[in-house]
Amino acid sequence: MHIDIVSVFPQYFETLTLSLLGKAREKGLISVEARNLRDWTCDVHHAVDDTPCGGGAGMVMKPAVWGECLDELLGLEASDISENAGYTTFCQAVQSGRNVKISRKYEAREGTVLIFPNPSAPLFTQNDAKELSQKKHIIFGCGRYEGYDARIPRYYETRGVDVREYSIGDYVLNGGEAAVSVMLEAITRLIPGFMGNPDSIIEESYSGEDSLLEHAQFTKPARWRGMDVPEIYMSGHHAKIEAAKRSESLIRTSNIRPDLVERIHCEKLSEEDRKTLISQGWDVSGEHPRKISAER
Ligand code: ADE
Repeated sequence: MHIDIVSVFPQYFETLTLSLLGKAREKGLISVEARNLRDWTCDVHHAVDDTPCGGGAGMVMKPAVWGECLDELLGLEASDISENAGYTTFCQAVQSGRNVKISRKYEAREGTVLIFPNPSAPLFTQNDAKELSQKKHIIFGCGRYEGYDARIPRYYETRGVDVREYSIGDYVLNGGEAAVSVMLEAITRLIPGFMGNPDSIIEESYSGEDSLLEHAQFTKPARWRGMDVPEIYMSGHHAKIEAAKRSESLIRTSNIRPDLVERIHCEKLSEEDRKTLISQGWDVSGEHPRKISAER
């Protein structure tokens, strides 16, 4: 996989040579290039932003600079898309407040995805990370200031590029750099050969068929500062240990992230799972669990 990161702070990504990501680069599994957006400016001040149309606080990143940069990285010629049918649909959608996906006539390379972190976009999830770990080329565009001109992602979508906008959580950062680091790590660790022990990916939170939070982990010594590792973990009884871990996952998820329990398909639950969820006050007779009372 090749990754291009475009930012006005490319130095932010110097740490990518550290830790696992650095090892994956050495092994040739991924190549990463952090690029300075200002390299595509053509004015003496290297300006990348301007005041917002319609007024308001802050500055907005200019489409012209991003256009020069992304055309080069995507291998596209600049074009006027005012006559493009997809663009007309987009304008109608904007006017009516609908969120219409533009139909794509493929022009850009297959396997390339352009990603913009954006606090006003859908949440980035483990499923997105999994899907993106299969791609050949990812370009991340880091916005700063009050964001980027909304025409930038729509233009490339109209040109056939697979464009995504993601938020990494319900809070606002100063720019997209930290969000890109988070997405980059979540995606690249799922590339085959990246992790020393792939089993640790299968077991972890959000990765199973049903996304449950992972059970607590312990290591030796069995007693530390008067605190014992739960007896079952020291019993050597593999089946019982697995059952205890599963039950703990379900209870933990029920307490901390009931929204994840609500997404489970009841038909996939074992008899033991059902008992555990019922003990936590869930009704498991329908398609998905439904919370009916505090735990019993
Ligand atoms: N840029 C600023 N805040 C962000 C967030 N929460 N997610 C993604 N990009 C952002």
